[in-house]
Amino acid sequence: MNILFLGYGKMGSILAQRLDGQIKIIRRSSQDNFPKNYQADLVFLCIKPQGAEKILAEFSRRKFFHKNTIFISILAGKKIAFFEKIFGKKAKIIRSMPNLPIQYLEGIFAYLYNKNISKSEVKNLEKIFQNFGEIIALKNEKDFDAITAIFGSGPAYIFLLQEIFEKIAVSFGITSSAKLVKKLFLGSALMAESATENFAKLRQSVTSKNGTTEAALKILQKNSVLEKLFKKSVNAAIAKSKKLSKE
Ligand SMILES: NC(=O)c1ccc[n+]([C@@H]2O[C@H](COP(=O)([O-])OP(=O)(O)OC[C@H]3O[C@@H](n4cnc5c(N)ncnc54)[C@H](OP(=O)(O)O)[C@@H]3O)[C@@H](O)[C@H]2O)c1
Repeated sequence: MNILFLGYGKMGSILAQRLDGQIKIIRRSSQDNFPKNYQADLVFLCIKPQGAEKILAEFSRRKFFHKNTIFISILAGKKIAFFEKIFGKKAKIIRSMPNLPIQYLEGIFAYLYNKNISKSEVKNLEKIFQNFGEIIALKNEKDFDAITAIFGSGPAYIFLLQEIFEKIAVSFGITSSAKLVKKLFLGSALMAESATENFAKLRQSVTSKNGTTEAALKILQKNSVLEKLFKKSVNAAIAKSKKLSKE
C-alpha cells in the first residue's frame, strides 16, 4: 500500500511510525522526489490548519492520488466539507483526531468518514487505525469539539496535575519528586486499566474510613468545586475548537 504524508511534524511522524507500507513524505523544509506516476492509496494530511487551504490546493494539483485514494485529515477544526471543496465531492475523506499517546499504542483515535467510503473500506481502515490505540467512530462533526477538548488536550491536563504534585512534594523536601510523581500516575493508570469496577468504586476501595486519603478527598470534592473547574476548562476548550472550525 502506498501511504503518503503531507506534513511530517510531531503528529505526522508519530502516526507514520505505527504504519506498515511504502511511506512517502512531503514536508516544507525538504525537496521531495517522487517516481513518475506515483499515486498514493492513503494520504495522511498532517499539516497545520493555518494556511492549509493554499497548501492543499497546491498538493491537489500534483495529483499524487487516484479515484479511490482515501484522505485522512488530522487537522484540528477543519471539517469534511473543507476537504471535499479541495479534492472534490466524490473524494473519500476521513476527519480524525488523534492524541499524542498514540506513540505508545495508548492513544485515542477518533474519526468520522464521509459517504464516499464504503463499509468494507471502513473495516480495513479500522484495522489500520487500531495500530494507534483505542479507536472511536464519531457520528457527527460536532462531536469533535468535545473529543478534542477532553482527549486531544487531555495529556496537557494530566501534565499540569503532575506539575502540581511535584511542586507539593518538593515543598516537603521529598527527593526525586518528578520520578515519584511519574510512578504515581503510571501505577494508578495501570490499576484503573485492570480494574473491573468504575472509577468511583476504585477510589472508594483505596479510601479507608476516617483515614488520611479521606481527609484530603473531603476537601477536593467539597461542593464539587474541582469538578466544576474541570468542566469550565473543558468548555473553554470546546468554545475554542468551535471558533477554529469557523476560521
Ligand atoms: N500535536 C498534537 O497533539 C495534535 C493532536 C491532534 C491533531 N493535531 C493536528 O496535527 C496537525 C499537525 O500538527 P503537528 O503538531 O504535527 O505540527 P508540526 O509539528 O508543526 O508539523 C507540521 C508539518 O507540516 C509541514 N508543512 C508546513 N508547511 C508545509 C507545506 N507548504 N508543504 C508541505 N508540508 C508543510 C511541516 O514541514 P517541516 O517539517 O518541513 O517544517 C511539518 O512537517 C495539525 O493540523 C494539528 O491540528 C495535532
